[in-house]
Amino acid sequence: MSDPARLKVSVHSSVGHLDGQKQSIIEGLLCEHAFISPKYFYDSIGSRLFELITMIPEYYPTRTEQGLMASHREAIVTTVGVVDTLIDLGAGNCHKARELFSSIKPKQYLAIDISEDFLEESLAQMREAFPGIQMRAMAADLTQPITMDQDLLTQRKICFYPGSSIGNFDPDHAIRLLRNFRNLVDNSNSLDSDPPLAVNGGLLIGVDLVKDDKVLHAAYNDELGITAAFNRNVLTHVNTLITSDFNLADWGHDAFFNQALSRIEMHVYARRDLVVSWPGGERYFKSGESIHTENSYKYQIEIFKEMLLEAGYSEVKFWTDPQKWFAVFFAQA
Ligand code: AVI
Repeated sequence: MSDPARLKVSVHSSVGHLDGQKQSIIEGLLCEHAFISPKYFYDSIGSRLFELITMIPEYYPTRTEQGLMASHREAIVTTVGVVDTLIDLGAGNCHKARELFSSIKPKQYLAIDISEDFLEESLAQMREAFPGIQMRAMAADLTQPITMDQDLLTQRKICFYPGSSIGNFDPDHAIRLLRNFRNLVDNSNSLDSDPPLAVNGGLLIGVDLVKDDKVLHAAYNDELGITAAFNRNVLTHVNTLITSDFNLADWGHDAFFNQALSRIEMHVYARRDLVVSWPGGERYFKSGESIHTENSYKYQIEIFKEMLLEAGYSEVKFWTDPQKWFAVFFAQA
């Protein structure tokens, strides 16, 4: 339930400060099956590379989601209802939210993203384009506690989480995240407040669906090598964060569909036997050994609907494209 003074999204309570962050990256590198959290893709180069990914022919999710939202716009707008504040979770270049402005007409737009510089740039353009909408930017990691301003309590808020970013979390973690997004838009436990609070909001969320292996494989192994660059760039970012000496030339990109777990897995693999060092530590990698950098879960509609219900939402509605490659859900908090 929401604490009226501090609306929080809290999934992990640890590693907020830089030392904690360094520590967790190093712990990941030292695991038997080394990993780096996908949140480290998004430095300023990584955010731009991701923007390019959304434009390449093989990466169907962005254009499929946009297409289906355009063709079901009326039904979506009617279902979503009145919106005081649109909270854009992982806003990036804000392009997806701006598409909604003319129909949903929020009074306020709160853009949250992990990459602060990128967000500020995007929001500067948005302020010019939509002078009538109050805009706020918040640099935050969605997997960490988020504290929201108290004035938002009197508003009906909708969380918008497009692009199937939810697919980048393991299902249990995804349910915890959905539950915490729900807390951001749930005003129901503060009904006797003065001024009166708005009714509960909801969550509008995009989810990538299971489909032909070949389509999935191509989307994460594009011909231009943009996804490979995006994946390998995480090592440059890690070098900056922990002063390690990853040499990009030694690392290749690998992405495949893990059928049993219904997810694309991305890895970077060592092209030769090598040692990676950082102040106070090092790790030996055998040729071919990999670092797991991302999972991207692909869902069946019914399974994702169950997850929303388990996270405490009700009245789940969804829309899909004609090929049923992607779905957009609206769930009432
Ligand atoms: C952000 N996220 C939904 C993307 C995905 O498809 O899982 C990230 C991505 N990774 C490789 N290509 C795109």
